[in-house]
Amino acid sequence: MKKYIFLFFAVCAFSVYANAQNRTGDCTSYTSDDRSVTFYLNDSSAIQLRLCSQSTVRIWFSPDGSFQRSNPSFAVVNEDLEDVGTVHVDEQNACYEIFTPKLRIRVNKSPFNLQIFDKYQKLLFSDYADKGHISNGQRKLEYKTLRRDEHFFGLGEKTGKLDRRGEAYKMWNSDKPCYSAVEDPLYKSIPFFMSSYRYGIFLDNTYKTEFKFGTESRDYYSFEAPGGEMIYYFIFGKDYKEIMKQYVDLTGKPIMPPKWALGFAQCRGLLTSEKLSYEIAEGYRKRGIPCDVIYQDIGWTQYLQDFEWRKGNYENPKKMLADLKDMGFKVVVSQDPVISQANKRQWEEADRLGYLVKDSTNGRSYDMPWPWGGNCGVVDFTLPAVADWWGAYQQKPIDDGIAGFWTDMGEPAWSNEEQTERLVMKHHLGMHDEIHNVYGLTWDKVVKEQFEKRNPNRRVFQMTRAAFAGLQRYTFGWTGDCGNGDDVTQGWGQMANQIPVLLSAGLGIIPFTTCDITGYCGDIEDYPAMAELYTRWIQMGAFNPLSRIHHEGNVAVEPWLFGEEAEKNAKAAIELKYRLLPYIYTYAREAHETGLPLMRPMFLEYPADMETFSTDAQFMFGSELLVAPVVKKGARNKNVYLPEGTWIDYNNKHTAYSGEQWMTVDAPLNTIPMFVKQGSIIPQMPVMNYTDEKPVYPVTFEIFPAAAGSETTFSLYEDAGTDLGYLRGEFMRTPITCQTTDTGYTLKVGTRTGEKYSLPGQRNLMFCIYTEQMPKTALLDGQKIKKTNVGKLEENRETEFTITAWCPDKKQGTCLLRLPDDGKEHIIEFVY
Ligand code: NOJ
Repeated sequence: MKKYIFLFFAVCAFSVYANAQNRTGDCTSYTSDDRSVTFYLNDSSAIQLRLCSQSTVRIWFSPDGSFQRSNPSFAVVNEDLEDVGTVHVDEQNACYEIFTPKLRIRVNKSPFNLQIFDKYQKLLFSDYADKGHISNGQRKLEYKTLRRDEHFFGLGEKTGKLDRRGEAYKMWNSDKPCYSAVEDPLYKSIPFFMSSYRYGIFLDNTYKTEFKFGTESRDYYSFEAPGGEMIYYFIFGKDYKEIMKQYVDLTGKPIMPPKWALGFAQCRGLLTSEKLSYEIAEGYRKRGIPCDVIYQDIGWTQYLQDFEWRKGNYENPKKMLADLKDMGFKVVVSQDPVISQANKRQWEEADRLGYLVKDSTNGRSYDMPWPWGGNCGVVDFTLPAVADWWGAYQQKPIDDGIAGFWTDMGEPAWSNEEQTERLVMKHHLGMHDEIHNVYGLTWDKVVKEQFEKRNPNRRVFQMTRAAFAGLQRYTFGWTGDCGNGDDVTQGWGQMANQIPVLLSAGLGIIPFTTCDITGYCGDIEDYPAMAELYTRWIQMGAFNPLSRIHHEGNVAVEPWLFGEEAEKNAKAAIELKYRLLPYIYTYAREAHETGLPLMRPMFLEYPADMETFSTDAQFMFGSELLVAPVVKKGARNKNVYLPEGTWIDYNNKHTAYSGEQWMTVDAPLNTIPMFVKQGSIIPQMPVMNYTDEKPVYPVTFEIFPAAAGSETTFSLYEDAGTDLGYLRGEFMRTPITCQTTDTGYTLKVGTRTGEKYSLPGQRNLMFCIYTEQMPKTALLDGQKIKKTNVGKLEENRETEFTITAWCPDKKQGTCLLRLPDDGKEHIIEFVY
């Protein structure tokens, strides 16, 4: 009997304890200091709110009220986003209230319950009942009320549908070869998501955090961390773009890639020799297929990671790099973050200097079995002294003439999250469970800072696989080893999956990214059998901000290997990308300023249209173009959703469709379904073998006029393309406006802005207005312009800069104009 009484009390005691652990306490008092207010709870925990701006609040739940963190944030570079004055707390019987011009923050006292409303009293974000902030040992959990109609987007580069509701995700950088369309976690951890209730949450915790968007309950969602501090930022914005901009204010602006990086790139796993590099370069130029970059994969180096050219594979690497440069190619080489034990000299050096991650069980350099190159030491990039050491090594191939790096395997090389024996790794800044997800980020920081230090005024090119929030300050991205390893020709699902993966990467502020075009995995035994899939991969890949064709091992994936038709279609898609480069580069600048990606989910542009929450197989490319690549085997049409407005088929430039409807459009193998919004201007350049083949060229503005009474604008951005002048205001903008009037069109070329950069030569501006009704006359600043034919208008347009002429072309439905670019304001009136 005694035994049972004891058991009864033990169970009661346990459930009291468990309940105590699963309920937020009551708020007993608060203190405030400048921007922050700390609320103290009767269970000795405390919650601090810090107003970063009128719309961004840092929330810190400290179970013991100490507010200690082991390391400053790896992601946040600026917290005080604007002056908010001194915070005033309004105390009432049941709650405290804090007001900003945009938010009303209410803290209910018993139990503690935080609620955030917009200024119209609409509840945006709320602790879930009395379970808002829970701690259990080192583990901390946040439960938030889930609304019936709430949707979530983000978490960076993740698989699956863009709408995260009903799904759970983990943050643990993982090397996942041939990952499936539902694989989680992947290589990067970006604990930032946005809710359709117009707020974003950035959880600033580097541990293996988890997010459950209603998988446990229909009433709440949660995020949790197994260690570290529970610090997160609530960001309110009128739409997703505004939320993302504020996240960028917190975590830093994306660096701009060199212009050449926005061209096409070719790689393959065993592209690790001089001979093959020449062959590929010649293959591209011989066929006139544009290409800017040739990558060398990790086998280029003698040992991991000595940055020496592999003997036998490269006879004269400097000459190779110079020859390829003459042909217009840049070479990017791979680096892994490890030192091979087989390379005695470098290993001993790193070990002696203490530059390798330690094994906490024995204090020695951790012995890491690397997937290739034998056992290695893992370089500790959290140790400040490592930076210069690594920088000197990586400078060797830069001095030889390479143009950049791809930083691979920075998880580091961790395929299986259950490999917990590796958690014994100790870094200068902490144990591995804290550092794991930021390991790649600390490496990228070193690569970028050392590059800039040793190569002043040069833009870094670095493309990375493993990263954490804030990576945009140092690097660009690629989405790793996708593709169907079992049967490469059946990789359609993997290709389709790459669209939401890339779009979600963009939402995590990785605006410059690519997938492995062709899918990384799978031997190609039957090239003709792969031709259709290859064509569709290239068509989709052309719209990746950085387009790199890559495949595993020695599997060749150059565009001319899949038959004549595939080559023709691939070439056309690649040429389209090159033609759009002025448009793309303008959006690259926007990405730098705001973080907004070029390849963007439909809801970024049309947030109020709920239909866009499930349009994962299409995207906006900038604000003007809608792209819907075909991702189904045998498909010769595509179901596309057109949001509000009128959309013009970009393949024929004339057929118009009304928006807010799904429609099926033809998509033969040579076609990428694409639409341009009525009221758009798209700047273009002539197709070139590589992006800077001609430093100056005629820019053509395609104009799809707005409805009568409205105008359309585009401000073309240009700079030197490879230096850091873009950070010093060395760029120019050419604003173009086209007003649709009752009597025709008024085109305005605005005064050029930006004085610190000027074009390296003269050029013509070409305009092509798509119009059904043809103007009869054209006036430039009030003076009649000469009418001519298309041939004459185009003649010598790259060498002759004195001719102003126009040409109505009824058959084509275009009204063309040629105008020498003098940087001054001009008004051109086209009158019916
Ligand atoms: C893994 C990378 O994801 C892949 O792209 C690369 O080819 C291999 N490492 C070899 O370096």
